[in-house]
Parts: sequence; structure tokens; C-alpha cells
Amino acid sequence: MRKYKTQSPSSAAIEAIERYLLAAGSEPVSKMHLLGTGAVADLEEKLRRHYGMRHALCVSNATSGLLGLALAIELREAEFVTTPYTYGASLAGWLLLGNRPRFADIAPHDLGLDPDAVIRTITPATKALLSVDIFGIPSDSRTLRQLADEFGIWYVADAAQSFGSQRDGLPGAGFADAIVVSFTTGKTVFAGEGGAILTNHSELYEKLLWHTQHPERQRRELSLALWNEFAVNARIHPIAAVWASVAFEASLNALSERRQWCFEVIDLLNASGKVEPIEFRKRHIAPSFYRLTASWKAKPFSAKLCTWLLANGTSARIEPSPVRLIYQQPAFQARYEPAEKPCCPTAEHQERTRFCIVPDDQLGET
Ligand SMILES: Cc1ncc(COP(=O)(O)O)c(C=O)c1O
Repeated sequence: MRKYKTQSPSSAAIEAIERYLLAAGSEPVSKMHLLGTGAVADLEEKLRRHYGMRHALCVSNATSGLLGLALAIELREAEFVTTPYTYGASLAGWLLLGNRPRFADIAPHDLGLDPDAVIRTITPATKALLSVDIFGIPSDSRTLRQLADEFGIWYVADAAQSFGSQRDGLPGAGFADAIVVSFTTGKTVFAGEGGAILTNHSELYEKLLWHTQHPERQRRELSLALWNEFAVNARIHPIAAVWASVAFEASLNALSERRQWCFEVIDLLNASGKVEPIEFRKRHIAPSFYRLTASWKAKPFSAKLCTWLLANGTSARIEPSPVRLIYQQPAFQARYEPAEKPCCPTAEHQERTRFCIVPDDQLGET
């Protein structure tokens, strides 16, 4: 059985950060992140190439990237359809602008928005679809794209956990109007904090610059005589950009190794008969495995499963899934009222039965 590798900064990242710190006192270097040049431009180029998309924009984190997107598509006091099976930050920026979520159920095999449930949940007032690739499992982006086109609404993908994932051989979330990724702890590329937005829409990209970046970058890229000092500061920290750019390829390589480990464990889990079948291979889904999870078929068998995995060469422990349904969280209920009582039986079942498999031998470097 392969070793599962943890994330720690490589010596190349440490050296690059040191070089940046030694040069940062000089005027051109200290202003590069305002302009979106240097490491920020390098990282954006790598992201563009990875996704094969026209524009990439680094931001301070995925939460502010999602907020910036709502500002850019002018989503305020509007209705959007999303999944309840996610982390609250997926919705935070959109809720802040007075937008109202309608929760659609998830598909049991990928835990992303179920296209049929989306159709049942969309109303004539719906302005956008917000999908989430939870645990790094890419949602059915191709079908969600078709739905967004059919209903004439925006399709935004929260890919904070799924950078590096693939579905049908294409990057996860690749059909969205805009994709948001994160570089915080546990994510495919770890740079302390940070994130990015990918899009093919030039007009949307320009609005994102306007709403989230420094006027120096707005002037450099938009050639405007008019600029926006009232943007939210959603710029990436220069050290995070240096770190993420240097760690980029190595992180994707580490992901492929981690993925092999996860698929070997999945084969064991499927053979155990204790969990609901995991069908990633059959469905051409290659998650980024932000978390490796499974769902108990009947009652939990944690100790027995760990013993069985160990007997088959895998030292791992079982932990509870971190996901709590958005509409069941007191912090959500205290401030926001869903338009109507959500009907998400699959999400509720998954919340009760899903667990994480965590490798015990987290040794080595990424
Ligand atoms: C699904 C999801 N969306 C959004 C976020 C927010 O990302 P960030 O911490 O970069 O703001 C996270 C962070 O863990 C996440 O898991």
C-alpha cells in the first residue's frame, strides 16, 4: 500500500519566499501584487493553463472570491439555487448581499447538486446556480451547464475543495461560468491562505477586477481613466502567491499519488460490503480527495472496518464527516429563513451516514 503524503512547504517554496522577502523592500517588488504582476501573474498563468480557461484572477481566499463574483454578476437580494451539503463559506458572500438560497438535493454518487432536483427547485425568480464539489468530488458540471443555459441563469462553481479533480477526463467544474478555488489548509495547493477565480467571460473578468483588485491593476489591465478605489480588497497576499506558484506542479503530483492511495482504499471499502458502493471509477470521476469519505450501508462498524483495512495493509482511522447541512445550522437559522422548507432527503441521509477515512501514516513531503 502506498504512503499518504502530508502538505508541508517544500525547500523550493521556502527559498522562493526568502528571495521575495529579501527583495520586497524595493519599490517595484513591493508593488507587484497591487499590479497583479510577478508571482501573481505566474500563478494565474498556471491556473489558466490547468483549466484551459481565458482568465484567472487570484484573490485572498475562496470566500472573498465568491463575494466578488456576486458583486460582479450583480447578484443582490436575488434568489439562487444551491446545495445544503457544504461548508457555510460557500454561501457567506452571497448571503451578505441579501441573496436568498433555495436548497436542492444532492446526488448520492457525487454529493453535488442533483440536476433533477435543481429542475424541481428553480423558480422564475432564480438568478444563479451555485454548485459545490464537496470533499473534492467534481459535480456533474456538464449537465448543470445545460440547465443554466436552459433557464438563462449564471452557473458558479465552488471548487474550493476540488482543484485537480477531473470528470470525464476534464477539469472538475470546467463548464461553469466561473470557478472558485482555495489555497488554504488541506486544499490541493496549500499556501497558507489564497484563492482564485477562473472564467472564460471577458466582461465578467473585467468586473471582477473592478470589484476586487487595486486601482493600479484596474488601470494596467482595463486602461481606464476612471478607477474604483471602493473595491473590496480581495487581493492575494504576495507571499501566498509566491508559495502557491512554486508549489503548483508539486501539489498536483502529490495529488495524483494521494489519489492512487484513495482509490486503493476505495477498492477495499467496496470489497468490505459495509459501505454504500463508491462508483467513481465506473462514472469516470477522479476527485481531488480533499477528504476520502464513505457512507455506512447499515449501522457503523468503525472498529471492525479499521481492523479489516489494517489486515489489508492500510492503517487508517474513521472520523465523523465535518459537513452539517446549511439549513440545519443554528447560525444559519438565526439569520436567514429559507423561502420554503427544504426537501433534501439524500443530503439528510448522507449527513447521518457519511464518515471520513483518514490515513494514520501521514508522513513525507508534498
Ligand atoms: C466548500 C468550500 N467553500 C468555500 C471555502 C472557503 O475557502 P477559503 O477558506 O479559501 O475562504 C471552503 C474552505 O474550506 C470550502 O471548503
